Amino acid sequence: MQISGSSAIVVGGTGGLGEATVRRLHAAGAKVVVADVADDKGKELATELGIRYVHTDATDEDSVLAAIAEAESLGPLRISVDTHGGPASGGRLVGKDGSPLGLDGFRTTIEFYLTAVFNVLRLSAAAIARTEPLEEGGRGVIVNTASIAGYEGQIGQLPYSAAKGGVLGMTLVAARDLSPLGIRVVTIAPGTVNTPAYGKSADKLEQYWGPQVPFPKRMGRSTEYAQLAQSIIENDYLNGETIRLDGALRFPPK
Ligand SMILES: NC(=O)c1ccc[n+]([C@@H]2O[C@H](COP(=O)([O-])OP(=O)(O)OC[C@H]3O[C@@H](n4cnc5c(N)ncnc54)[C@H](O)[C@@H]3O)[C@@H](O)[C@H]2O)c1
Repeated sequence: MQISGSSAIVVGGTGGLGEATVRRLHAAGAKVVVADVADDKGKELATELGIRYVHTDATDEDSVLAAIAEAESLGPLRISVDTHGGPASGGRLVGKDGSPLGLDGFRTTIEFYLTAVFNVLRLSAAAIARTEPLEEGGRGVIVNTASIAGYEGQIGQLPYSAAKGGVLGMTLVAARDLSPLGIRVVTIAPGTVNTPAYGKSADKLEQYWGPQVPFPKRMGRSTEYAQLAQSIIENDYLNGETIRLDGALRFPPK
């Protein structure tokens, strides 16, 4: 699908992966709406690029609908990329003191990393379904973000891995459900990409993770995520699949 001429939302659009995607889709000619909860950064990015920012909480229906409405006002919404983050809790299933991992932390992690992804997916799909079909009946593309932790979660990562595994599980079913509407669904499962998400200095992160990656011997770059998102949007035959973007990294147990 051609990017130019369509509108797009990038949820989590001021984060590491999100900002790179916003910049890439904007450069490719999409009318991009930055949808995030980080208002200062979002407005700054939008002002720099001359695009729109909408305060958007991915967990909330009305909030996501507002971002979608903004995008629809700019042109047919055919592209939805979800790169949002949020609080994630972790810990061993049974702690050293014998206590089980908390239920509240699990629920919160699922809320942000699975339920909110479903929220963006379903509302984006309904909006894209309203557009006129293009050649071969295609209407648009939805890109989700999972993680290689959805396949091989590390010790202490159970809630996050469960949520990301849920995103992997939704991908094919969503593509099947949406096939009569000509909407594709593809998920990207990054390995380790050097972004603010880790809350650590970029250099320290690189020193820790870089040597563990088979090749290239470094962490991933946000621009590589954005490049893949663009390829997914442009290549009509990619659908119902999760693509690992990880330099062949397989997480060890810890
Ligand atoms: N960076 C990595 O190595 C990596 C690896 C695998 C998966 N991922 C996944 O990629 C996604 C983005 O990661 P990142 O590294 O860009 O993180 P990031 O922290 O740089 O960006 C996340 C963005 O989400 C926004 N956000 C938080 N809560 C939100 C909400 N309720 N609604 C909308 N936006 C919200 C934040 O404000 C932030 O801009 C996450 O889902 C993360 O799990 C990242």
